[in-house]
Amino acid sequence: MTGIELFDASVDYPIYSASARSLKTAIAQKVGGAIRADDTSRVVVRALDRVNLSLRSGDRLALFGSNGSGKSTLLKVLAGILEPSSGRAQITGHVSALLDLQMGMDPEATGYENILMRSIFLGASFEEARSRIPEIEAFSELGEYLRFPIRTYSSGMIVRLAFAISTVISPEILAMDEQVGAADAAFSLKAQARINELIGQAHILVFATHNIEDAKKTCNRAVVLKHGRIDFDGAVDAAELAYKEARSEAEALSGPLALAEPASSADQPPLKNTEPGASSGPPLSGPRLARAARSTRG
Ligand SMILES: Nc1ncnc2c1ncn2[C@@H]1O[C@H](COP(=O)(O)OP(=O)(O)O)[C@@H](O)[C@H]1O
Ligand SMILES: [Mg+2]
Repeated sequence: MTGIELFDASVDYPIYSASARSLKTAIAQKVGGAIRADDTSRVVVRALDRVNLSLRSGDRLALFGSNGSGKSTLLKVLAGILEPSSGRAQITGHVSALLDLQMGMDPEATGYENILMRSIFLGASFEEARSRIPEIEAFSELGEYLRFPIRTYSSGMIVRLAFAISTVISPEILAMDEQVGAADAAFSLKAQARINELIGQAHILVFATHNIEDAKKTCNRAVVLKHGRIDFDGAVDAAELAYKEARSEAEALSGPLALAEPASSADQPPLKNTEPGASSGPPLSGPRLARAARSTRG
């Protein structure tokens, strides 16, 4: 039975170059996880803060949240790439993560060598990796180039190869980050078709996106992350409301500052200022209607 359970899962990224003393002068942040000192007074960014989440077969979850809210970190935990620093993640089923597609690729190695290395990095045995070669050859359409070191490829060619390697297997759990793809037009049609195929076959989908329309088409549930915490969990339509509500709340709070935001951030709601160390502070604001509704869903 495919499923994912997170119990109070937190992720802290240590920042080795920062000293705990300089935290005293840290200014309030508008985005990102809370910066604080851990037990050993290392400086850490708390990217996920005591997240509880239960996903079952049939769940198609959209992940919303501004930059730095923890979407990519949550995807990595759900995909089993990252262990929670505290709490627990229980993942049942074969997972594929379409996150950083080029992670683990070596520019000096040939296309073929990269197929083997990256497939093994993604969890295949050597024999499985070898058996995937013909399909990856066909999908990437790189022909003789596969014999050359990938430093001789254009960036579009590297994306083709990385995408072909990462999508050759249909997973039960598919964890997908927003900026996957972005290659030449002909390939991106083919890539989109492959992604749709994987989505159709996955038992569980988790999809980080800024695009509410995409989420409405693909997903039947949504989570809004705010400073590494789940601020909303419920229907996609209701998430849209929660997302907009958070945006106007933040605008009202930050006043003229919000007006000074660059235009490019218009589709990303500015967040309330957070005191450094706030993750040990007050709990989330009151539960929302849709979250309450969800808790009746078995
Ligand atoms: N490798 C890392 N080292 C230190 N901090 C990180 C690292 N990756 C992410 N973070 C921090 O964790 C928080 C969440 O980041 P991320 O999961 O990438 O958010 P999102 O995908 O929503 O933009 C941010 O504050 C970010 O700065
Ligand atoms: Mg991200």
